[in-house]
Amino acid sequence: MNKGLIIAGNWKMHKTAGESAAFFQELDQLLESENYRDDLTILIFPPFTSLAAVRGITSRIEIGAQNMGAHEQGAFTGEISPLMLKDLVKYVMIGHSERRQLFGEDDSLINQKIRLTLSHGFTPMLCVGETLDERERGRTLDRIASQLDLGLAGVTPEKVQDVVIAYEPVWAIGTGKTASPEEAQEVHAAIRDILKKKSHDANKNFILYGGSVNPDNSGYLMNQPDIDGALIGGASLKIESFFDIILNSSNPVRQ
Ligand code: 13P
Repeated sequence: MNKGLIIAGNWKMHKTAGESAAFFQELDQLLESENYRDDLTILIFPPFTSLAAVRGITSRIEIGAQNMGAHEQGAFTGEISPLMLKDLVKYVMIGHSERRQLFGEDDSLINQKIRLTLSHGFTPMLCVGETLDERERGRTLDRIASQLDLGLAGVTPEKVQDVVIAYEPVWAIGTGKTASPEEAQEVHAAIRDILKKKSHDANKNFILYGGSVNPDNSGYLMNQPDIDGALIGGASLKIESFFDIILNSSNPVRQ
């Protein structure tokens, strides 16, 4: 069974509420006028402050939150709880490498957040990926296995099947350096193998690739058997490049 593809944009700390709403409206018009594959999920993670503004604009674009606090409520200044996100988003991104590296999020906190998203009915997107140093030392698969083991600890196989995994090699994020389609496929196949021991049916898990995805490389990446979509940073901020990636993914390049 073909489960389709997810093309996701992570806007990080970009766009005001007004800019976000204008982007959604413009993209919606383009999507209305073009044929793209109907098993494609288009998903955008705007900043928290844009969520209310983009909600309700179109059913063609799913909405996600870039992060979530680890508690339901309480004295946690600056945090956003699942209760606050409930009416706004379906997806919640957890453990992006910027959260891990710049904000000190460790695997145990990430696991707490993953379990909280699932208990509130969100679809979590768990981000994993190795640093350049880990790759050069041949530690890529060990690192990813440990992020998956710790991040998904205590989650039932039925729930693991609902978790979207985003593989983002840290050295490929915002650098213009992409893993080649073959390099990415190798890691995605290893992730699928690890999920076979954890997930009710690992073939149903979406495993997305992220890291300098652009309109030129997206078709090749999406053509790999274990790559079920893309998580796009920089190229998701401009309508033209994000829309081109959507179109290219609808017509995967035959190699
Ligand atoms: P870039 O596409 O800008 O490399 O960012 C990738 C990313 O971090 C998406 O979450």
